[in-house]
Amino acid sequence: MTTTSNRPRRIIAFMNQKGGVGKTTTTVNLAAAFARAGRSTLLIDLDPQAHATLHVGIDPAALETSVYDVLVDDKIDVASVIRRTRDNLAVLPALTDLVAAETELATVPDRQKRLEKALNTLGDKYEFVLIDCPPSLGLLTLNGLAAAREVIIPMQAHFLALQGVGKLLETVALMSQGLNTKLRVTGTVLCMHDGNLMHSKEVVADLEQFFDAARDQETPWRFARVLRPFIRRNIKLAECPSFGQTIFEYAPAAPGAADYRDLADGLIKEWDAMLLRQGITPPVAQVPVAPAPEQTDRAPEIIVPASNQSSKSPAAVAKA
Ligand SMILES: Nc1ncnc2c1ncn2[C@@H]1O[C@H](COP(=O)(O)OP(=O)(O)OP(=O)(O)O)[C@@H](O)[C@H]1O
Ligand SMILES: [Mg+2]
Repeated sequence: MTTTSNRPRRIIAFMNQKGGVGKTTTTVNLAAAFARAGRSTLLIDLDPQAHATLHVGIDPAALETSVYDVLVDDKIDVASVIRRTRDNLAVLPALTDLVAAETELATVPDRQKRLEKALNTLGDKYEFVLIDCPPSLGLLTLNGLAAAREVIIPMQAHFLALQGVGKLLETVALMSQGLNTKLRVTGTVLCMHDGNLMHSKEVVADLEQFFDAARDQETPWRFARVLRPFIRRNIKLAECPSFGQTIFEYAPAAPGAADYRDLADGLIKEWDAMLLRQGITPPVAQVPVAPAPEQTDRAPEIIVPASNQSSKSPAAVAKA
């Protein structure tokens, strides 16, 4: 059954076909920051690696259903698959079986719209919906792009990364000309950033120049920008997934927490301004945000496989 949305939702796909650039770290910690700001948030793990699911502390062994079931079985009620993990933070989790969905859906006519259809049944229950896409431009990512209104590109400030962005934008453009005409690129989040490197500064300048040059063209990235702040390299961000904790729980005083909090604040302010322009009052925080717990030194509950820092599927594509 489809529920009509009354209030606008901000549905964002975090996408980059290059592996290990900070997609999951950004999606999880931004989702946590939105939730801590009192905004009803849904985090969707669309990656068979299930890193976002592990990052928020969900035990895969305890799951009977996951996003795989939502995609392949349209009789499943997505609400029954969603897990509430923290105040204002719900998760549509993934298991490694998600890898089979691409093959199983290969001949299904509406295969790129499965996630969108499922999300439509939720109405406006979640104001912010953040989708962690896998490092590929396959059917799972296309489901994310069909369901989203916005794309945010987590990336590192490397010259080769810029080339990958060209291929990624091509995919977004194709999607916006067909299945999802409302899709827009909001911008890039620079992850593991070292602002002192001349190389990083040059890449940032290149990116800004690229987006500025597109301002008067009818592209989905016409209003895109290099989002601030940049996310500094911070070991605490790499450690917290092993504890099933977000950075705000694991190391609330770390630079990584400050960066993601500031990034979320900027995105919330911009969203609230848009709501006000439409005559909609932004929701007030539904729960007082509890002070973050001190960092613990308890043993890890969940061991996340060492993430692959190297590129898994870098597309050899010309710079856009
Ligand atoms: N700002 C940061 N500082 C230090 N380490 C980071 C930072 N951001 C991410 N990492 C670490 O870098 C690795 C890759 O990050 P992440 O898993 O978020 O990338 P990804 O793009 O989701 O990867 P994949 O393509 O495999 O899904 C992880 O080990 C993560 O903990
Ligand atoms: Mg990931």
